[in-house]
Amino acid sequence: MIASAPGKVILFGEHAVVYGRHALVSAINLRCYAKVERHRGLIIESPMGKTGLDFKVHPYVSWAVKRFSEIKEVKDVYIKIWSEIPIASGLGSSSAVTVAVLKALSLFYDVDLDREDVFEIARRVELDVQGLGSGTDPFVSTFGGTWLIPERRRINVKDLDLTVVDTGRPSITSEMVKRVADLREKYGDVVEKIFDTIDSITLSGIKHLERGDEGGLSFLFRTNHLLLKALGVSCREIDEVVEELERRGKFGKLTGAGGGGSVITIGDVDLNKYKCFRVSLNAEGVREEKV
Ligand code: MEV
Repeated sequence: MIASAPGKVILFGEHAVVYGRHALVSAINLRCYAKVERHRGLIIESPMGKTGLDFKVHPYVSWAVKRFSEIKEVKDVYIKIWSEIPIASGLGSSSAVTVAVLKALSLFYDVDLDREDVFEIARRVELDVQGLGSGTDPFVSTFGGTWLIPERRRINVKDLDLTVVDTGRPSITSEMVKRVADLREKYGDVVEKIFDTIDSITLSGIKHLERGDEGGLSFLFRTNHLLLKALGVSCREIDEVVEELERRGKFGKLTGAGGGGSVITIGDVDLNKYKCFRVSLNAEGVREEKV
């Protein structure tokens, strides 16, 4: 049985969404695939390696197996993972693998899980691995489309020309979420005000997104990015990409947890030093792949 789930871009609102503010997020046309087959013993094979249940090498898959086992015991299966989503790039590969594995297990064991169930378990897994998280990534990977979180309002996006620049430096969500939590602990009032301003940027982003207003979106990307930088989740490589974009008259914003990972910008860009690729939004959520 094979299932797949999409990666995502957070257009606005990462980190602030962990503290109850809004985020605008869309599923992208890069997917992660999981295949489950009968086998003697439990094997997990992915680009990270070939292991049994291993919470270090395969934390998300192992927790997904453990949580699924609360419904139906998982044993004697070979779980194979492959993905179009660059790993630790801020594009939701961890949630996509979690969601794809849960769906493939449910198909293999003939357990009736609807999307809400898959999301609930994937959300649990996110907390198991990261300790803190908003559920945004597993939500969009499960349901697909473009959403305003937390109220789950579907957003109509005009075709948006979006380029992702991958800095090549890994973005570790749990570390970045912890960094922001520490900053909030120390400078509560200031950090809450930053979250509030990010929130108004996100809400203002809706109309620009629906109108396909690229100038407005670029301005909001820039402003959101500067606030993320103030939260301490940028890094040298991200700064370098953003500066290079500005030299070319464009604005960029880190997407996802930061500390590495990707920068998004409107329009077509090619920066020699970094891998740049176009993504399309509004991709379909988790699904069975027929072979
Ligand atoms: C990570 O893609 C997004 C964060 O806001 C964390 C979360 O929402 O759980 C940084």
